[in-house]
Parts: sequence; structure tokens; C-alpha cells
Amino acid sequence: MGNVTIVGAQWGDEGKGKVVDYLAREADVVVRFNGGNNAGHTVVIEGEKFIFHLLPSGITHPGVKCVIGNGVVIDPLVLIKELENLKAKKIDVKNRLFISDRAHLIMPYHKAIDILREEKRGAKKIGTTGRGIGPAYEDKVGRRGIRIYELLKPELFKEHLKDVLEEKNLYITRVLGGEGFDFQKIYDEYMKTADILSPFIKDTSRYLKKWIEEKKKIIFEGAQGFMLDIDHGTYPYVTSSNTIPAEVAIGAGVPPESIGTVLGVSKAYTTRVGGGPFPTELFDEIGNALRDRGNEYGSTTGRPRRCGWIDIPALRKAVEVGGLKGLIITKLDVLSGLDKIAICTAYTIDGKEIDEYPPDVNDLSRVKPEYEVMAGWKSPLSGISSFEALPEEAKNYLQRIEKLTGVEIYGVSVGPDRSSFILRKNPFIS
Ligand code: GDP
Ligand code: IMO
Ligand code: MG
Repeated sequence: MGNVTIVGAQWGDEGKGKVVDYLAREADVVVRFNGGNNAGHTVVIEGEKFIFHLLPSGITHPGVKCVIGNGVVIDPLVLIKELENLKAKKIDVKNRLFISDRAHLIMPYHKAIDILREEKRGAKKIGTTGRGIGPAYEDKVGRRGIRIYELLKPELFKEHLKDVLEEKNLYITRVLGGEGFDFQKIYDEYMKTADILSPFIKDTSRYLKKWIEEKKKIIFEGAQGFMLDIDHGTYPYVTSSNTIPAEVAIGAGVPPESIGTVLGVSKAYTTRVGGGPFPTELFDEIGNALRDRGNEYGSTTGRPRRCGWIDIPALRKAVEVGGLKGLIITKLDVLSGLDKIAICTAYTIDGKEIDEYPPDVNDLSRVKPEYEVMAGWKSPLSGISSFEALPEEAKNYLQRIEKLTGVEIYGVSVGPDRSSFILRKNPFIS
């Protein structure tokens, strides 16, 4: 019995929330370790929909402990809203939510800087979620970030905020042409959040160490996806944190060997939201059909997602660098009814196949996908609960993905609800 790490293997929104919620039935602990409320993880339980931005997707399971690790950047106002939503649904988090004292805070000036910079970039904008993620991580690395434990020490918080705010206000007003912030207003607002959050703020690494020793089953829940990783993704069209499995050890504060079986989640096709290259993007009626049937609108910002065929070179890179042991394929149901399904097996530039994933987004926006076309299936997949019962063409498609990526498919999702999931191999066991 071991732990399981679930990460996105594409450009985010692969269905990680759904997969984590499904697997959490067997788990003791679920841990977020990266990103912030740029994430939107959807869980649907008997038709009731939850979207989690900061809370781990195991939170609806009453016995499961949930940890927000040191690698997450936390907007306390958003977190409190999520907690209020849960309370309204009578889900109790007492004694089972643990927030790392070392996690950095997202401050109102981070959000303002994020939005103002994007406006300034115009056509070259990254298409961020506008939640202040990049500026908050910049401050962390720049050693001027404010950590959540400081909320418990009002004098320290006051002094730190005063120092930082002076610099931020100059930057916002003089460089970005925005409006500065009032110290007292931020101070009062954040102190109010301290009253609510203080019972949950802990040294989470110590708890995790104990749970690892007790052989509790832990799921590490990634945010974003491989191609949005700050080092390995389509830079600069990426997020500002590491999204690959290696980040678990850092962002949760656990030994690397405890991350367990590492699985990547991929849609049966590809989506991306925001700017940046997307080699298999479709601009035709099939792209529109995928968006409509897959309801491909962002869980955080509501923006329409760009849609295209599955991209094996990108998935292979995620397998290679992330060390993925297997994949979970979601949204297979969305492909039902298509006559033909294409798989991008390689990229070419100027007619020549390339075998390395280009580091330069200019090259990546020029690549042409090489497609292999497979037969689709007609019947809907709802209600199918075993791999064997899937239509032959769907099985062929999945087996072709396994062959091309070199890793096994552990599970297949055939609808948004918790119940629409086929677990082929239990990752807690192997
Ligand atoms: P995450 O960020 O990786 O957790 O993914 P999101 O929640 O942002 O986006 C995934 C969307 O697809 C959500 O609306 C899910 O409810 C939905 N979804 C997940 N799995 C499936 C599936 O197998 N079929 C269909 N039709 N929808 C799914
Ligand atoms: P989940 O966890 C999809 C994208 C944004 C933008 C880029 C940078 O739900 O899969 P940021 O606000 O992080 O500075 O934006 O990254 N992005 C996501 N796309 N799913 C996400 O999270 C994302 N988080 C960030 O759209 O292109
Ligand atoms: Mg999402």
C-alpha cells in the first residue's frame, strides 16, 4: 500500500479534481502542493457540483484529512469563501483541514499587478487568471513575500506589510499607472481572515511525516498541468510554479520517496485556456463540437477553452520528465459519435519530423502535427463500468495511447459525475 500523486499531463483542466475525489474514497489524506486559486477543480457528486480553488478535492469525504501545503499561494479571502460554501452544504472541516504555516499569501496588490501587467502587454498577454499568482510567487522568490503564519503575529504582519506596501504602491502607481492601496484597509481585512483561519494554520510537514510513518494513504493533488510548468512548460506561457511531480516533495514538504505511484491525468483530447502555442488546436467544427459537448469553459474564469486532438509528443514529454507511471484518461464520452478520431503522433517543422520538444515557443507555434486517424464509436459511454464493456473502437483508441506513450492507463472517466469512472488498476497497490 502506498501513496498516489495525481498531476495534470497537459495544459490543466484535465479532470484532476474528479479523479482525486474518486480515489479519495480509499484515502486518509489529500494534499495540495502547488499553485493557488488559479486552479479550479470540479467534483460532481450525484449531480451536485463543487468547484475547489484552494481546498483539496478530497474535502467532501468526511473522514479524509486535507492539507494545503507550503508550496501553495493562498488568497485568504477566497479560502474563506470556499469554507463558507462548504458550511452551507453542511460539510464540516473541523480537525481535518491543515494549512501550512509556511504558505505565502496572495495580497490585493498581487492581483492588481497581475491584471495591470496583462493590460499593458496587450496582444502579447499571457492570459493569466488574474488571481495574483505570478506576482505572489515573484515575491516569494524575491524574499519579500508574506507568509500565512504572520497573520498570527499582528505586529510582525503590520511591519512587514508596511515595508512591502510602500514599494508596491510606487510600482503600481508610477510604472503600471494603477491606483495604490491603503495600508489600514488591507491590514484590517487580513486580520479578520486571521480570526477564521488561525485554527487551521500548522506545521503541516510534521503532520505529514507522522501520517507517512503510520502508513496512511495520501493523495498529492497537483494543480495546472505539465505544459504550464514554469521550467518545463511552454515558457513564458506558463504559470509561475512547478506543476510536475517532483514539486510534491518541495511544495508539501515530504521526502521524495513518499510521493508514491505517479499518475498523469489527460483528457481524451486536448484543451488549453489562455495564450501560448497549442500544436493540435482545431479551429473547425470539430473543435467547436468538443467545446460544446465537453462544456469546455474555464472552472475559474469561465473563459472558453481552446480545443484540439490528443497530442502524444506533449504527453510523452510529461511522462518522461514527470516520471509518470501511468495515465488516467478523462472525458472519453465527449468523443462518442465522432466518425474519426485523430491522434497527433509527431511534430514536423518545414516538412521534417522533430524528435525533441522545442524549448522556444516561436518554434512550437510553427510545428505541424502529424496525425494518425482511428475509427470512432457511435454509442454513448454512460453507465459503462468496466474497461472490457467499452466499445471496441474506444478500447483500440486507449490501447493506441498506451502504446504511443509507453505507459499504462490506470483509469478512464466517462462522465463528470463521481460514479462515471472505470478504475482499471488500483494505484494505491501498484
Ligand atoms: P481540473 O482542473 O483538472 O480538476 O479540471 P476542471 O474541473 O477544471 O475541468 C474538467 C471539467 O470536465 C469539469 O467540468 C468536470 O466536471 C468535467 N469532467 C471531468 N471528467 C469528465 C468526464 O469524464 N466526462 C465529462 N463529460 N466531463 C468530465
Ligand atoms: P487547474 O488546476 C488551466 C493558465 C492560465 C494562463 C497561465 C498563467 O484547474 O488545471 P496564472 O494565473 O497561473 O498566472 O496563468 O496558466 N492556468 C490554467 N489553465 N487550468 C489551470 O488550473 C490553470 N492555472 C493556470 O490560463 O494561461
Ligand atoms: Mg481546472
